[in-house]
Amino acid sequence: MNRCVVVTGAAHGIGEAIARTFLASGDSVLLVDVNDQLLQATTTQLNSEYPNKVSCVVADLSSPDGIEQVIAAAKLLPGSVSCIVNNAADQTPGTTASTSIEQFQRTMFINVSAPFLLVQGLLDDLIKTQGNVVNVGSLVGNQPIPGRVAYNTSKAAVAGLTRSLAVDLGKHGIRVNAVAPGHIMTDGEEKWKTVYSDFQQRVFPTSYALGRVGHAEEVATVVVFLASPAAKFITGITLPIDGGMSILCPETASFTAASVAQSYGLNEGT
Ligand SMILES: NC(=O)c1ccc[n+]([C@@H]2O[C@H](COP(=O)([O-])OP(=O)(O)OC[C@H]3O[C@@H](n4cnc5c(N)ncnc54)[C@H](O)[C@@H]3O)[C@@H](O)[C@H]2O)c1
Repeated sequence: MNRCVVVTGAAHGIGEAIARTFLASGDSVLLVDVNDQLLQATTTQLNSEYPNKVSCVVADLSSPDGIEQVIAAAKLLPGSVSCIVNNAADQTPGTTASTSIEQFQRTMFINVSAPFLLVQGLLDDLIKTQGNVVNVGSLVGNQPIPGRVAYNTSKAAVAGLTRSLAVDLGKHGIRVNAVAPGHIMTDGEEKWKTVYSDFQQRVFPTSYALGRVGHAEEVATVVVFLASPAAKFITGITLPIDGGMSILCPETASFTAASVAQSYGLNEGT
């Protein structure tokens, strides 16, 4: 295919994998990110692999100005935008007691308002192309983790936004879907090891029916499927990509975690 796709948060991690997968399908991609240095490096790399298919815009999606910059860059693409992937997210941790209203609103703006405003700003393109939107939610939208009040709330709202946009835009032939990943190793196993303790590395996979956490490419292929004509009768869903984490009985997971810990002679927190 040769569509114009906008991917936010594309300098790194899942967004970069999504951009790469669209490019491998023959699409042109506008990479959006706030991290200038990383964005330039990723754009240079992808351009060398997919010449004339990659463009980028540095934009901070925490304000309407940033959204305007993305819309202006999208209007310079060789064709109308036929897919928006809202992947960028603010993941700042915080409890009910520690989260300021400014931080709460910032997380909600980047994770929920920005996707809404991008769709609104590029609606003419989406109508023209009978295009679609894929939002990147999270498992925590349904199963919140402690100490992430704003992030959890925003990801629940992403699922609601997805349904609301789908209902509103279906009459134009525009589909709107979301994915809800579980733990994804965005930098491969080496980085995973620096972020999580040995105990966490061994115990996290016990929460998954498949016995392991995921890889960015495993999210990217599903996003590209949802954006493709193969999914042309699917709209309004939030599809878990979680190796069966959301269907596993917590009791089973905790028994398995305890037995893993015991077999390694580990105590929780070590
Ligand atoms: N990695 C996981 O385990 C996991 C699990 C569930 C959901 N997700 C979701 O997947 C998406 C990508 O996550 P990731 O792990 O690849 O994250 P990441 O931090 O590796 O990448 C996110 C990208 O978004 C960019 N970004 C952040 N704030 C921005 C802003 N204000 N404006 C523009 N760009 C901004 C960052 O610079 C970064 O390049 C997010 O929506 C996240 O909530 C990730």
